[in-house]
Amino acid sequence: MAAGLGSAALFLVHIVLFFSPSFATDPFAFFNLELSYITASPLGVPQQVIAVNGSFPGPVINVTTNYNVVVDVRNKLDENVLLTWNGIQMRRNSWQDGVLGTNCPIPPKKNFTYQFQVKDQIGSFFYYPSLNMQRASGGFGSFVIMNRDIIPIPFNTPDGDIVILIGDWYLRNHTALRKELDNGKELGMPDGVLINGKGPYKYNASVPDGIDYETIHVDPGKTYRVRVHNVGVSTALNFRIQNHNLLLAETEGYYTSQQNYTSLDIHVGQSFTFLVTMDQNASSDYYIVASARFVNQTVWQRVTGVAVLHYSNSKGKASGPLPDPPNDQFDSSYALNQAMSIRQNVTASGARPNPQGSFHYGQINVTETYIIRTHPLVTIDGKLRSTYNGISYVNPDTPLRLADDYHLKGIYKLDFPSQPLDRPPKLDHSIINATYKGFIEIVLVNNDSIPHSFHLDGYSFFVVGMGMGNWTENNRGTYNRWDAISRSTVQVFPGAWTAVLVSLDNVGVWNLRSENLDRWYLGEETYMKIVNPEDSGNKTELPRPENVLYCGALAKYQKSSTRSIHEGSKIYLTLMVLLSALVSILC
Ligand SMILES: *[C@@H]1O[C@H](CO)[C@@H](O)[C@H](O)[C@H]1NC(C)=O
Ligand SMILES: *[C@@H]1O[C@H](CO)[C@@H](O)[C@H](O)[C@H]1NC(C)=O
Ligand SMILES: *[C@@H]1O[C@H](CO)[C@@H](O)[C@H](O)[C@H]1NC(C)=O
Ligand SMILES: *[C@@H]1O[C@H](CO)[C@@H](O)[C@H](O)[C@H]1NC(C)=O
Ligand SMILES: *[C@@H]1O[C@H](CO)[C@@H](O)[C@H](O)[C@H]1NC(C)=O
Ligand SMILES: *[C@@H]1O[C@H](CO)[C@@H](O)[C@H](O)[C@H]1NC(C)=O
Ligand SMILES: *[C@@H]1O[C@H](CO)[C@@H](O)[C@H](O)[C@H]1NC(C)=O
Ligand SMILES: *[C@@H]1O[C@H](CO)[C@@H](O)[C@H](O)[C@H]1NC(C)=O
Ligand SMILES: *[C@@H]1O[C@H](CO)[C@@H](O)[C@H](O)[C@H]1NC(C)=O
Ligand SMILES: *[C@@H]1O[C@H](CO)[C@@H](O)[C@H](O)[C@H]1NC(C)=O
Ligand SMILES: *[C@@H]1O[C@H](CO)[C@@H](O)[C@H](O)[C@H]1NC(C)=O
Ligand SMILES: *[C@@H]1O[C@H](CO)[C@@H](O)[C@H](O)[C@H]1NC(C)=O
Repeated sequence: MAAGLGSAALFLVHIVLFFSPSFATDPFAFFNLELSYITASPLGVPQQVIAVNGSFPGPVINVTTNYNVVVDVRNKLDENVLLTWNGIQMRRNSWQDGVLGTNCPIPPKKNFTYQFQVKDQIGSFFYYPSLNMQRASGGFGSFVIMNRDIIPIPFNTPDGDIVILIGDWYLRNHTALRKELDNGKELGMPDGVLINGKGPYKYNASVPDGIDYETIHVDPGKTYRVRVHNVGVSTALNFRIQNHNLLLAETEGYYTSQQNYTSLDIHVGQSFTFLVTMDQNASSDYYIVASARFVNQTVWQRVTGVAVLHYSNSKGKASGPLPDPPNDQFDSSYALNQAMSIRQNVTASGARPNPQGSFHYGQINVTETYIIRTHPLVTIDGKLRSTYNGISYVNPDTPLRLADDYHLKGIYKLDFPSQPLDRPPKLDHSIINATYKGFIEIVLVNNDSIPHSFHLDGYSFFVVGMGMGNWTENNRGTYNRWDAISRSTVQVFPGAWTAVLVSLDNVGVWNLRSENLDRWYLGEETYMKIVNPEDSGNKTELPRPENVLYCGALAKYQKSSTRSIHEGSKIYLTLMVLLSALVSILC
């Protein structure tokens, strides 16, 4: 106990000496999340789903800019778990990212307490289990970062906050889906789309009886902030609310130039926030719809989620046909133009006040270009695999970040190619050696026949361009160099490219991946390692956390401790609170 107190106290001294005092004085918020299996029947058929704190979907984590978030995750599943925090930047703290390159998994029956600061962020995000297709069975929930009261928001304070999680869904659980992929089979068409963990409202005879659907309760005349996340496996969904405009206000942490949409495509892993005004006469309820996109909609009719928007003065049930999806079968540029119409509000304040307008990213010279191409699935050594630039990533047993901390060599290679090479695809541990303070261009090229969602941890990037066919340098002339949206997840349409710009100011080891769960599981990911060559004394990166879990080549360091991680963090936090009191007295 005394030794525990001692090392915690030392750690605090480091914080006070090396980090801005704000780290210690910003408020703490504590959460307990317990992952377990429960039985649910979202599509009318009982199945095991992953619940968080007994509920499916999991509870909302709702904090404010700069809060220190402490989440004790308890694994009551029968397999390893890691929670990841989609879009939360984890500044200088890839230790808390919850992917295999930075963390050892939490074994069944064990706890791990994550601690991170939501530094300079606002917006709509979500958490989910990052390993082994588990998200296909649940474990997800919304993660909201409210603005501080002193920072103005670029719209009137909404009358309420509504979270909507949409996603394609299979009756088969994640272990069954995994087995199919391991046996060389693709997953095929999903069995439906869930909205907040529930199946479709019976809008016509094609929907089976007895399905519990989601109802969103609203009052006439009010304006709600509606946060929509696609937490599904692989299907891009068109989201729409019958007779209501969706005024787009924010995507993954940045306020957009506000525009009305009658429907918007939300790709896997993306989050959008709309302002929706209840301006209809409530002659009946209204449909909320999430339907499959970029597939044959006749064949995929069952892959449609339907919930109900219920006004408190509603005069009846929703009936009749669903509102139409975009009719763009013969116009592939429609979706692409819609995606590029999402632009940043460059004068709005974000997490901080914005007196000079946003970062002028368009005037910065690019220091390096990476062209990353995806292909249809391939077979490598007899296994079905997915690739980036011909490399199908295999996670080493030891997290990369931890291996570096212990100066272990040979765990991974820094040789990820900066463009596709003309060679056969292979399995490898290749990652990107990126340069700290670089300003890089990443061009994603999709030669596959389905849309791929691309996500980068630790960062937001500017979505400067999209186009059909293969990218050429001439395409740079079309880039949006003024008000491109900044976000962490972007779609790459089939047979098309997407270009993003990233300012590499966050040290760590950061995952970049396909959010399409099957593609990710089959190797469509890598990491970007960013080191400050001048770092000494924990200034640009936070030190390894006290409660770090060990595995692989470092497994011998895992204490078979009598003191639980939980007690340890309690002592640490008590000290933290005492110390911040002390700091405020002294300052
Ligand atoms: C989860 O459940 C635990 C124990 O029941 C509770 O203490 C905690 O507040 C819950 N967490 C959230 C985020 O609701
Ligand atoms: C997943 O489904 C398989 C049957 O396909 C079943 O044997 C297994 O118990 C299920 N696992 C969980 C965790 O529900
Ligand atoms: C942009 O933000 C400003 C400042 O908050 C706000 O007044 C304006 O309405 C916003 N414009 C758009 C188009 O969203
Ligand atoms: C988050 O908390 C704020 C109060 O700080 C509240 O107004 C808002 O409704 C909450 N949002 C969600 C989605 O729970
Ligand atoms: C149900 O609705 C879908 C889409 O709105 C339509 O295509 C289909 O024909 C309808 N089916 C029946 C049985 O009415
Ligand atoms: C969006 O639509 C609403 C009606 O639903 C309208 O009141 C509002 O002015 C529109 N806003 C913009 C920016 O077009
Ligand atoms: C969609 O599938 C149906 C049924 O198989 C087929 O008749 C139709 O031609 C397909 N539509 C397109 C656009 O491929
Ligand atoms: C960008 O590069 C050009 C020449 O390649 C140079 O003239 C210019 O000053 C550079 N801009 C910045 C902001 O460094
Ligand atoms: C990685 O990049 C740094 C510069 O950022 C360079 O010093 C180092 O040699 C590179 N390492 C490898 C293995 O290429
Ligand atoms: C793009 O490049 C790839 C690889 O060189 C080639 O196979 C493909 O046909 C090209 N696509 C188009 C539309 O030119
Ligand atoms: C950085 O932090 C770690 C863990 O607290 C500590 O062991 C190490 O000595 C620190 N390094 C320096 C140079 O302060
Ligand atoms: C997990 O946390 C609970 C309290 O929330 C504690 O009782 C238990 O001992 C912890 N287990 C481990 C393995 O840390």
